[in-house]
Amino acid sequence: MVATAVRWHGELAPGHERRDGTLYVGGVRVDELASVYGTPALILDGHVLDATISEFIEAAVRHNFDVAYAGKAFLLIELVRLLAQTPLQLDVCSLGELITAERGGMPAHRMTLHGCAKTEDELAAAAAGRVGRTVIDNLDELAALAAAGARIPLLLRINTGVEAHTHAFVQTAGDATKFGIAERDFATAAGILGSHPQLQFLGLHSHIGSQIYETGAFLANVHRLFGAAARFASWNLPVRELIVGGGFGVQTGPDADTQLDIAGLLNAIAQETGERARTLGIPLPRIGIEPGRAIIAPAGTSLYRVMTKKRQASRTFVVVDGGIADNPRPALYDAYHHAILASRTSDEEGERVIVCGRSCENDRLTEAILPRDVRAGDFLAVCTTGAYTYSMASNYNRFSKPAVVYAKDGSHRLLARRETIEDVVRNDVDV
Ligand SMILES: Cc1ncc(COP(=O)(O)O)c(C=O)c1O
Repeated sequence: MVATAVRWHGELAPGHERRDGTLYVGGVRVDELASVYGTPALILDGHVLDATISEFIEAAVRHNFDVAYAGKAFLLIELVRLLAQTPLQLDVCSLGELITAERGGMPAHRMTLHGCAKTEDELAAAAAGRVGRTVIDNLDELAALAAAGARIPLLLRINTGVEAHTHAFVQTAGDATKFGIAERDFATAAGILGSHPQLQFLGLHSHIGSQIYETGAFLANVHRLFGAAARFASWNLPVRELIVGGGFGVQTGPDADTQLDIAGLLNAIAQETGERARTLGIPLPRIGIEPGRAIIAPAGTSLYRVMTKKRQASRTFVVVDGGIADNPRPALYDAYHHAILASRTSDEEGERVIVCGRSCENDRLTEAILPRDVRAGDFLAVCTTGAYTYSMASNYNRFSKPAVVYAKDGSHRLLARRETIEDVVRNDVDV
């Protein structure tokens, strides 16, 4: 059962409502949001965020699972402040994310440091105890931490070889990806751990990819993780914690086929873990999951102003005032975002259009059915944009990054200011 606030209502994304034709996000009219903060703006709906968090926490507590939010999906100091008030833990994968989390008041013991190639500074932060545990992705960083001599609680990220059905760019296990320690290196890793007792081995980790809807892929990953856990146990390295990753797919449009039942999936994972532990005769480790997208994506809506509309020979383009710089996901891996006319409704018939940005690329944001009379000055809402948009945004064309706004129950406040042009040029040498 999907929590109501995280459900689509026909064409309307979670948290969206229409009153007198105008779209409200977080209970606030989009034209008010646009006039206060400008466009493009990324609006985070507080109720939807609360609902996604509750959905995970409620499903996880039944099985005593830990839930860590994967900060790479979207992290800002003020967002961390909100997350710190929930039972969530937090994954960070760089010094930048760690410092953001520290400034937002997330305690070290609730944080896990990830990253597939950690810098000296990041390893030093782990050694200094600025995170509760570190997930090691390769033998070189394991050796570097061993040499540091500090007591460091850690897990090993392994490549379980499970290839999920998702875009190749967001697949993170299997032979075609760089992530995790390969099976052939398990014994070497165990040797380093065995000879450096200050490295406190907690267990294993695997994350197979993102935007995955198949329960079978998650279960296959769990199955293989247990196989690895039994090997480490045989080397006197019992696995007390097993992190089975994130990657939970979210619904990106009214089409109900793309729903993932989180409670049902966690039940299935709990059942699989119990069975595997019994079959292999090893104690049941504590299980952790680390959703990023599924926590934050549904809460996000990108608000754009239509700049122009053009008909080419066979296609119609609606050009908005953002694009690949604030949302590279469609260009990177063909991500789908549902777009609707937000500032009004129209009795005009719908037509298929390509919604694109104003950058010097064919930056198709999405395809949508929009009323024929959509015109410059209208606002469009591009939905499900909370994850991997702002966190992947660039200054391409020297555009400034959008404002990020938190809206809940009709009130709103800034989480991040819109960049100014001065922000964009601030690192240029200009003597
Ligand atoms: C190690 C790890 N954990 C969790 C996640 C979160 O994935 P998602 O946002 O799809 O839940 C990622 C994302 O790539 C990841 O690399």
